[in-house]
Amino acid sequence: MASIRLERIVKDYSTLRAIQGIDLDISDGEFVAFVGPSGCGKSTLLRMVAGLEEITSGTLRIGDRVVNDIEPRDRDVAMVFQDYALYPHMTIAENIGFGLKMRGVKKTDIEKQVQRTAEILQIGDLLERKPGQLSGGQRQRAAMGRAIVRNPQVFLFDEPLSNLDAKLRVAMRIQIKRLHEMLGTTTIYVTHDQVEAMTLADRVVILRGGEIVQAGSPAEVYSSPNCQFVGEFIGSPQMNVLRARVQRLEGETTLEIADARIPLKHIDLPTGAEIHVGIRPEHLDWCLPENARFSPVLDVYEPLGSDTMAICLLEGQELTARLDPKLPLKRKEKIHLNFSIENLHVFDRESGNAVRFVA
Ligand SMILES: Nc1ncnc2c1ncn2[C@@H]1O[C@H](COP(=O)(O)OP(=O)(O)OP(=O)(O)O)[C@@H](O)[C@H]1O
Ligand SMILES: [Mg+2]
Repeated sequence: MASIRLERIVKDYSTLRAIQGIDLDISDGEFVAFVGPSGCGKSTLLRMVAGLEEITSGTLRIGDRVVNDIEPRDRDVAMVFQDYALYPHMTIAENIGFGLKMRGVKKTDIEKQVQRTAEILQIGDLLERKPGQLSGGQRQRAAMGRAIVRNPQVFLFDEPLSNLDAKLRVAMRIQIKRLHEMLGTTTIYVTHDQVEAMTLADRVVILRGGEIVQAGSPAEVYSSPNCQFVGEFIGSPQMNVLRARVQRLEGETTLEIADARIPLKHIDLPTGAEIHVGIRPEHLDWCLPENARFSPVLDVYEPLGSDTMAICLLEGQELTARLDPKLPLKRKEKIHLNFSIENLHVFDRESGNAVRFVA
């Protein structure tokens, strides 16, 4: 196993600067997920760690070695892609053992290691089949087998589950988590699915436009997003964002959100400042009219079984609340919602940066 250190890593594709100078330290054994919208540079960054993409400038270390100029096969990393890239004419056993064979490992040792890997992944009974005779999930496990068998210092995954159906993705996600617990190999996992990132990773790195916007534990990026982009990207359903304004009347500071006045002890903004206030659907609670902070009109609702998403309109602004499915909801009627002020997020309307406040 090994740590990974990125220092001021830049990647230019002719005139496009795809990676803008990234610093990141990944500890030995850590599981880090890169998330972000399409084109933000996740794959580029991962491919540079793998050695499949040249680094324009900056220093990349794996363990104590600078690996900028080291060939992919000498970096001791294994990569799993979205499209598996299994050899169709080889059996699964041959596919998994291929890398070892290329390295000149003895036949009997290859067999042993392939067998052990297949057991970890529970594909021991599929070893004599060809990739075309497997389901998507089985193929994906075989592709992981090829990575595991080499016992590399680092695993790199690029959206390995995105070709699978929703149910299988969840099952494979749990497999990957177990695998990491078992092997403890340093892992970078690229996904655009924030749920995958949150459930798998020790640390989530959110990228936008080739830069790191925030890096933190799943709990940190969920509860303390440093900007509106992260607030909206992490969490499902998405965080509500409402237009609001800072007011000070007779020494009292409040946030004016639609017709609501939310008292604050302190906020680092002048009177009249225009802001965005974020509140997550799960932090809005159904309440009696006299306790309500918001009383929006219910527009539509989505019963999901475990809970119901109530999509409301608050003076023209959309607001989603995650509510108890047993509540009697009626469209076009007012519903009454409360929340604790600690669960609000305040963002500067221009920069999108989070603004500190005291509830
Ligand atoms: N070989 C290339 N030549 C030129 N530009 C490239 C090349 N590969 C990627 N890019 C550009 O670099 C940027 C980052 O691409 P990258 O593939 O890293 O994004 P991503 O975050 O992995 O996106 P996705 O979620 O769609 O896979 C994009 O603007 C992309 O168009
Ligand atoms: Mg990609």
